[in-house]
Amino acid sequence: MAPQKPFNIAIIGGGISGLTLAIALVQRNIPITIYEAAAHFGEIGAGVAFGPNAALAMKRISPTILDAFNKCKTINQGPIKANSWFTIRVGDARKANVDGYVKEGTKVGDALYDVEFNTDWEGGGVYRAHFLDELVKAVPDGVAQFSKRLVNMKTVEDGSGDVICVFADGTEARHDAVIGCDGIKAMTRRWLLGEDNPASRAVFSGKYAYRGLIRTEVATEMLGEEVAGNSNMFFGNNGHLLTFPIEGGKTMNVVAFSSCKEWKHEQWVITTSKDDMHADFSDWGPHVQKIVHAMQKPDIWALFYHLPCDTYYKGRVCLLGDAAHASTPHQGAGAGACVEDTLFMAELLKEVEKKEDLETAFKAFDEVRRPRTQKIVKTSEEAGRLYEFELEGDDLNKIEQNQTQRMRWIWDYDLDGEVDRARRIYRSAVVSQ
Ligand SMILES: Cc1cc2nc3c(=O)[nH]c(=O)nc-3n(C[C@H](O)[C@H](O)[C@H](O)COP(=O)(O)OP(=O)(O)OC[C@H]3O[C@@H](n4cnc5c(N)ncnc54)[C@H](O)[C@@H]3O)c2cc1C
Ligand SMILES: *[C@@H]1O[C@H](CO)[C@@H](O)[C@H](O)[C@H]1NC(C)=O
Repeated sequence: MAPQKPFNIAIIGGGISGLTLAIALVQRNIPITIYEAAAHFGEIGAGVAFGPNAALAMKRISPTILDAFNKCKTINQGPIKANSWFTIRVGDARKANVDGYVKEGTKVGDALYDVEFNTDWEGGGVYRAHFLDELVKAVPDGVAQFSKRLVNMKTVEDGSGDVICVFADGTEARHDAVIGCDGIKAMTRRWLLGEDNPASRAVFSGKYAYRGLIRTEVATEMLGEEVAGNSNMFFGNNGHLLTFPIEGGKTMNVVAFSSCKEWKHEQWVITTSKDDMHADFSDWGPHVQKIVHAMQKPDIWALFYHLPCDTYYKGRVCLLGDAAHASTPHQGAGAGACVEDTLFMAELLKEVEKKEDLETAFKAFDEVRRPRTQKIVKTSEEAGRLYEFELEGDDLNKIEQNQTQRMRWIWDYDLDGEVDRARRIYRSAVVSQ
């Protein structure tokens, strides 16, 4: 086995980013400690989808992570939709003419078109909690500390460049570098960008979502096998609803989106009444009505995202995952971007031989990752408006043209080429020092 690297990294946060990073770094003989604010690792019970770019990144990070994903993932059930990312339908009855048509030959709820991917699709949806459990199993004992909420960081004044992490319980820990994987409300981000920077805190996207799980049996009875077993988006005015199968097809995951001007609550997740939820979709057609009425717990999730910032690192502190680029979920690409980040960070840190070069690795990470991940955030916000007739209006041909092309650059990412480029940037910077 290669010797341990002569530096020790603090990973703040143990979500998808923190855990994949921990597994990746341990496997590359890089000493780490994870500091998690909660008393244990945990994810919410909902679905999350990964594209082929994310699946490839998992494969490159470690077989352990790809196995965890493959063990949990579900793809469309049934051969007809094997190549379909989502089947697009209009769900909003207000879009129909007097005869009930939204377009020649197509009624509310009927399939309009499919957003397809190329063959060899390796992506899929997972139940978040199960995927996280699988990741947790791959994290060695003893590297994680719980109930450690980071509240401040200090650069040590002795010229070492080391960073001291200060936790809410009053304890401190000194590390050679810190990687902030602390999510959309990241403390590391606020520290790094400064509280006055408008990019330091997430902003409201004007959209919120209800999330629900419906047993596929129930969904099939309501909607038929084709809708219940595959991935669908129902478009409408200032709202849309999507479904995709998770848990091997046992469960239909539902996310129903609606809009409001501002978010007045302090909490980002609030419980509302079923009546309010039904009211948001009262003008919609029978498919969406049935789905919304079958949803049990009407929690609302306000959707926030980060404005672009000028840097992902400062000294020996670097942001990764949602801490760097929290996104709205409209391209299903946020968690995938986190996993890609992990691969780049791991491959760069593998290059580093002495701690003085850690900042150079972060600089290379920033140079290669920031443009792509910030573009994911921007185009995702735009996609939300496209689906809700706010970008191309309700011109279904224009929407189709735009939507069938807009995912390509995310999925067809030259991952290996870009990792190589990051490595070259790092190596030439180290040589020229
Ligand atoms: C409604 C919705 C649907 C989504 N759907 C998809 C999808 O289909 N596909 C997709 O790719 N992405 C999706 N995303 C995005 C995806 O969920 C995120 O990109 C991903 O989960 C972020 O992971 P993370 O580990 O970076 O952050 P998080 O999961 O937020 O983890 C952060 C961790 O840090 C801990 N922490 C926070 N602060 C501190 C602190 N000060 N000290 C110590 N620990 C701390 C937290 O407890 C937590 O464990 C969706 C997001 C939303 C909101
Ligand atoms: C979709 O529309 C937006 C806004 O008009 C535009 O910026 C983007 O390039 C379009 N994408 C595609 C793939 O047509």
